[in-house]
Amino acid sequence: MSLHQRLRAATASSHQGLEDALDWRARVATLPGYRALLARFHGFHAAYEPAIGLALADEAFWGPRRRFAALAADLAHLGMPDAEIATLPLPSAVTFADEAAAMGALYVLEGSTLGGQVIGRHIGAVHGLTQAGLAYYRAHGRQTGVMWNAFRARLDRLSGDPEAEAAALATGTATFDALRIWLCAPDSSAACGAG
Ligand code: HEM
Repeated sequence: MSLHQRLRAATASSHQGLEDALDWRARVATLPGYRALLARFHGFHAAYEPAIGLALADEAFWGPRRRFAALAADLAHLGMPDAEIATLPLPSAVTFADEAAAMGALYVLEGSTLGGQVIGRHIGAVHGLTQAGLAYYRAHGRQTGVMWNAFRARLDRLSGDPEAEAAALATGTATFDALRIWLCAPDSSAACGAG
């Protein structure tokens, strides 16, 4: 099994758990609900993106995968004042010891751009958004498949190195769990279902 296949298998139940708990259709049904969900993602990306970028130390690969600025732009478009965006809550800081650990965490964030295409189309249709206000979910847009394939190719360069595989699997599952807990926290202004 390639590292990607192992990561996918190891996190399949976490993905299902997150999908079930998130109840995204209900949360994005209103603009305030959608904005509150983006605010939670903003906090998560604020904590994870610098740590991933530092450990990867490869701006050409990492730069186009940052989505923090898209979150801030969407929130501003949806009427959140800059001062409020700047003081949104953050989860605990994380650090990644090496490239493999960072790739495990990035697997979760990059993977979310796949299902995010479905969610983004739904939000666009419900709220009449096309570009502005939808940048986070549009993410790589038409390049989604290309970006995902390039991500997987880099991930699978770590295949066969037991230490790297263990590190990526550990951070992949931990990141899924951390994201579920963060998105479903009591102060996320929306109830998450069981899971
Ligand atoms: C923030 C929440 C989510 C995260 C972090 C996440 C993460 C991921 C990851 C890591 C993958 C890649 C799986 C692989 O290795 O092939 C993926 C794929 C996918 N996810 Fe999610 N996901 C999330 C929410 C959702 C939701 C709510 C849906 C439901 C619409 C969804 C639908 C999908 C679909 C359709 C794929 C593509 C499966 C494929 O083409 O094989 N995801 N997601």
